[in-house]
Amino acid sequence: MTRAIYPGSFDPVTFGHLDIIRRSAKIVDELIVGVLNNTSKVSLFSVSEREEMLKEVTRSLPNVTIASFSGLLVDFARRERATVIVRGLRAITDFDYELQMAQTNHILDEDIDTLFFTTGLEYAYLSSSTVKEVAAFGGDIRKFVPDIVVKNMKHKFQIT
Ligand code: PNS
Repeated sequence: MTRAIYPGSFDPVTFGHLDIIRRSAKIVDELIVGVLNNTSKVSLFSVSEREEMLKEVTRSLPNVTIASFSGLLVDFARRERATVIVRGLRAITDFDYELQMAQTNHILDEDIDTLFFTTGLEYAYLSSSTVKEVAAFGGDIRKFVPDIVVKNMKHKFQIT
């Protein structure tokens, strides 16, 4: 049985993330979406808000669960008895950082490997940061994020 973790900030979850979740959940037996609780980084949504949105948008995927973690990803993976880390690669600009992370994690725990998915072309440009910037200025984010996120973003930025 293969249990994998798809870790990230998910602040907020985008259609790009959802695409990786759907595709990886078809390949592994169980997928845990791990929301990083990073106290040193300012986030728009709290960890529980991010978890709630992820639960809502993955409700139809029976082998996907949502959890949060702090500290090292490999420690979280070990606790969850997961041996695979899933990450998406949007463009060559992601590669350096992702390679460094994957290699570091593998050195920290040789039983853990990283599985990369190339992001669908329609989402290659998409990031949570861009979505937040567009939303902050009142732009239309419906092509970027699920309805529940649109609704919660409007609430955060007090847009009607
Ligand atoms: O969505 P993000 O912000 O690109 O996700 C980054 C994440 C959460 C995968 C990464 O920051 C992480 O794994 N943080 C946990 C701390 C850790 O294990 N660091 C060592 C890996 S180099």
